[in-house]
Amino acid sequence: MKNLTGRQVLVTGAASGIGLECARAFARRGAHLVISDVNERALEPVRAEIAAAGVPCLARRCDVSSEESVLELAAAVQSAVGPLDVLVNNAGVAFLGGFEETPLAEWRRIHDINVMGVVHCIRAFLPAMRQAGGARKIVNVASTAGFAPMPNMAAYAASKHAVVGLSEVLAMELHDTGISVLVVCPGIINTAIVHVSPASSGMGAEQVRKLQRYYETDGCHPATVAGDIVRSVEDDAAFLFTGPLAKLGYAGMRVSRRLARRLAIATAKKSGYLAG
Ligand code: NAI
Repeated sequence: MKNLTGRQVLVTGAASGIGLECARAFARRGAHLVISDVNERALEPVRAEIAAAGVPCLARRCDVSSEESVLELAAAVQSAVGPLDVLVNNAGVAFLGGFEETPLAEWRRIHDINVMGVVHCIRAFLPAMRQAGGARKIVNVASTAGFAPMPNMAAYAASKHAVVGLSEVLAMELHDTGISVLVVCPGIINTAIVHVSPASSGMGAEQVRKLQRYYETDGCHPATVAGDIVRSVEDDAAFLFTGPLAKLGYAGMRVSRRLARRLAIATAKKSGYLAG
C-alpha cells in the first residue's frame, strides 16, 4: 500500500503509547483516522490534535474485550466512512507476576483484551473489507513476548503467542485476497503499559519500580514503533520486529531455545522482571 493518502485507518488503544503514535504517524502520511480506546477522556485530546492538523478523524469509545462494543464501533464506522483500508489491532494490557501469583481473573482479563479484542475486531471489520476488495491490511500488535518471553509474564506471553498464531492462520486464509496481515512484535517500549500499581501486580513494589525505571531508561520511544508500522504497511511486510530485544530474541530462538532462555533470564534480572 504505497500511498496512504486518503486511506481509512482505524487504531484501537489509540489514547496512549504505541496506538497514539500510530494515529499520529498515519495522519502525517495523509491517512484518514478512526481512533478508539476504552479510555474516552484520554482519546479526545488525540482527536483534537489530529483534527487540528486538518486530518479527518472520528473518535469513538470502544472496549475491545466486549463483542457488543466492537460491533457498535463497526456499525458507526461503516456508516460514517465505509470499509477500512487498514485495521490496527493495538489495544492491549499486561499483568506483571509469576505463574503462581497470577489470579484466574487476570488470566481472563488479559485473554479477553489481548486475544478476544483482536478476534472481535477482525470479525467485525473483515467482512466489509473483503467485500470492498482491493489492497487492505490487518495489523496485529503482538509482542516479542509472543515468541521469546521473559519470566513473570505468563498470562501476557500466552496472549501474545495467541495473537501471533491467529495472525499466521489468518494470513494464509486470506492469501488469495487483497487483504494481508502484518504481525508486529515490539521489544521494550517506554509506554504506560508497565505503569501498574504494585498492589495489582504479582510482584513486589521494589521490583515493579525497577522494571518501570528499566522501561524509561532502556525502552525505545513508541514513535519509533509507529514509524516502523507505517513503513511496514507501505512495504506490505508480513512481520515487524522493532525496539530493543525484538530482533535479538527472534535470532536467539532460531539458534537455540536453551540459549534464548538463558539470555531471557539474564535480561529479566537486569530489567527487574526477575528479582536478584
Ligand atoms: P499503553 O498502556 O500505553 O496503551 C494501551 C492503550 O490500550 C491504552 O490507551 C488503553 O486505555 C487501551 N486499552 C486497554 N484496554 C482496552 C480495551 N479493553 N479496549 C480498548 N482499549 C483498551 O501500552 P502500549 O505499550 O502502547 O501497548 C500497545 C500495544 O503494544 C499492546 O498490545 C501491548 O501489548 C503491545 N506491546 C507493548 C510493548 C511495550 O514494551 N510497551 C512491547 C510489546 C508489545
